[in-house]
Amino acid sequence: MFTTAQHEDFDALAPEDFDSPYRMYAELRSGCPVAHTKAWGGFWAFMRYEDVANAAADYRTYTTTVQNVVPKLAFTGRRPPLHLDPPEHTVYRRAINPLLTKEKIDLLEEPVRRFAVELLAPIVARGQGDICNDFSARLPIAVFAEWMNLPKDQVDTLRETGRAYAIAVQTFNGEMVKKTSFKLYDMARNLIAMRKQELMDPEVDVTSALLSVRVDGEPLPDAMIEGAVRQILVVGIIAPHVMIGSICVHLSRFPELQNKLRQQPELIPAAIEEYLRLYTPYRGFARTPTKDIEVHGVKIKKDEPIALVYASANRDESVFPNADQFILDRPNIKDHLAFGRGPHNCPGVWLARLELRVALEELLARTSHFELNGPIATTLCPEIGALSVPLKLMSAGGA
Ligand code: HEM
Repeated sequence: MFTTAQHEDFDALAPEDFDSPYRMYAELRSGCPVAHTKAWGGFWAFMRYEDVANAAADYRTYTTTVQNVVPKLAFTGRRPPLHLDPPEHTVYRRAINPLLTKEKIDLLEEPVRRFAVELLAPIVARGQGDICNDFSARLPIAVFAEWMNLPKDQVDTLRETGRAYAIAVQTFNGEMVKKTSFKLYDMARNLIAMRKQELMDPEVDVTSALLSVRVDGEPLPDAMIEGAVRQILVVGIIAPHVMIGSICVHLSRFPELQNKLRQQPELIPAAIEEYLRLYTPYRGFARTPTKDIEVHGVKIKKDEPIALVYASANRDESVFPNADQFILDRPNIKDHLAFGRGPHNCPGVWLARLELRVALEELLARTSHFELNGPIATTLCPEIGALSVPLKLMSAGGA
């Protein structure tokens, strides 16, 4: 099998609708599991579950220090933890992880529910709205601001800049990505300066936790703390936006399931887990091989970028039978890769699950029915799923 930057197994830039990428991924999984595209300077894509899981776990062979997504976005300094490999990476995860345990995140349920209710009320009262623009794009920012203890006056800036950044990434607007990324860096610097003046309890504040780390008696370098805070400021914002949109598309297509979950809300956590598998919002993250490798007979040279396509791996029939179908309580659902695998696995899983669960609980409780009310707009790489979902909603009160 030859390997050259001109080799094209699939067109990563082909127009997509909500369902079409999954059809292409199924074909690649069976016929071309290690696929190459010329898009964005050329990259490889691992399509099968086992290859994706192995590469995500093997950080020595597949580094994240070169490029984290395709197309390559980061142009500024390194942003831990994603841009580092162990052992450097571990220091940052040790600081961040304790702020995101299930016990800590459970304490946020009250504000998360309050934000969800406030954002849903006007949409339900109107009887229509874009569940993404009006709700799921906003909820994660409010939640994040709360978790990061952002001062009130910075919440609006994060909302506007986070949104502008997400749009710039989606539209491949390089200049705007730079501009908004710099603004997020400014926010990170302000937050660090504030915490340096008055440190909060590192047990409840992630910026203070990073500032309190000592390695051989020395604090972490300022630039790396800035990078970490900057990364944390956006990393958990886009995925819940897309996921909630995709869930609403599916529940509009399957009204019986919608009613079942409305009548039995205790099934929602299991439904969320299956939705994470079925509509994995991060299409894939990138790795770069640190040496020449061979996978399924395909030779990949050192330094050639590889996308680990989590969204394809999670529909691998050899691991998840009837993978395109929503099936509650799959026996191996805990094996899904929506949150990654290995050292970079998502530390925000409990926060993500809380947001998704509360969002769905409140949406279902406040409505007796909802359905699609216009065309769905979809995301581009590195996400996959719904970006805009117009809905018609019937209020639970029958109004
Ligand atoms: C539905 C929501 C979310 C999904 C599906 C998701 C998914 C992921 C995935 C797949 C990775 C692994 C990246 C890789 O393999 O290179 C990751 C990393 C990460 N996620 Fe999440 N995430 C979500 C929400 C959040 C939230 C709410 C936070 C809050 C702090 C968060 C923080 C992070 C961080 C800091 C990393 C980098 C970890 C590292 O490099 O060690 N995520 N996420």
